[in-house]
Amino acid sequence: MSIDSKTVNQYINRFASLIEEKRVREYSGDLKIGVDLGTANIVLAVLDEENEPVAGSLYPASVVKDGLVVDYIGAVEIVRELKKQTEELLGSPLTHAATAVPPGTFGKNKQAMANVVEAADMEVRHMIDEPTAAAAALGVADGAIVDIGGGTTGISILKEGEVIHTADEPTGGTHMTLTYAGHHRIPFAEADKRKRDPKRQDEVFPIIQPVMEKMAAITKRLIGDYHVDQLYLVGGASCFDGAERIFEKETGIETIKPAHPLLITPLGIALHDG
Ligand SMILES: Nc1ncnc2c1ncn2[C@@H]1O[C@H](COP(=O)(O)OP(=O)(O)OP(=O)(O)O)[C@@H](O)[C@H]1O
Ligand SMILES: [Mg+2]
Repeated sequence: MSIDSKTVNQYINRFASLIEEKRVREYSGDLKIGVDLGTANIVLAVLDEENEPVAGSLYPASVVKDGLVVDYIGAVEIVRELKKQTEELLGSPLTHAATAVPPGTFGKNKQAMANVVEAADMEVRHMIDEPTAAAAALGVADGAIVDIGGGTTGISILKEGEVIHTADEPTGGTHMTLTYAGHHRIPFAEADKRKRDPKRQDEVFPIIQPVMEKMAAITKRLIGDYHVDQLYLVGGASCFDGAERIFEKETGIETIKPAHPLLITPLGIALHDG
């Protein structure tokens, strides 16, 4: 069975508008907090006891690379700052949080992610893997989550709520930016900015389309013989309008992209706090 896209999208949109408008919603009871330490963005999500979004903030950063903390001090500073801003808006302290790692992250690498959050004075009660977080936010029990982030594309197959298979491919939004930058011979930062500008999509999309087709072909190969009825696209680099069509065409599997794919994993992480 597919998810209730309308209800899910309304939920995600409520979270997105809090971030965009730098606003918090009134709440009562305990808070659930999630910190997503990504390659391109660090996102803080705050929910109330009923899982309704209360606050959120996002910071573009390159302190984590594909699930590895490459700039520990920088990462801590950003999480501290996001926490401080949110606490000021809320008028109450954030004392704990859940966080997540890409599938297959263990030992010291996993601990380093928790250490970042703890160094920002939030007790880490739960650590989960990213696809489990995304699946929770979408209410998905069966299907495949395809997370196209900054550095990698992660494919996770779920069956009855459990992740039964994961695979990772080092192609992500960064590679789209590099392709676009190369095409126009412009610096990476300028290319990334243009790539993310919705008004430029018509010009950008045909240039990055081969990268997305490659991701879709890889997804098909990685799914292999697993039985998958739906693909769910999450992660910032799936924002392009045509993304679901490309995946559907290449894999032959119905492909669903929720609103604000960049915010799905952070929401799902917060759902696991408490
Ligand atoms: N509106 C947009 N259109 C196209 N690409 C976008 C858009 N917004 C963000 N991106 C791209 O999405 C990528 C970041 O996505 P996301 O925040 O999901 O990654 P991350 O979680 O930080 O990285 P990873 O999961 O690889 O560690 C970047 O490459 C960014 O340029
Ligand atoms: Mg991510």
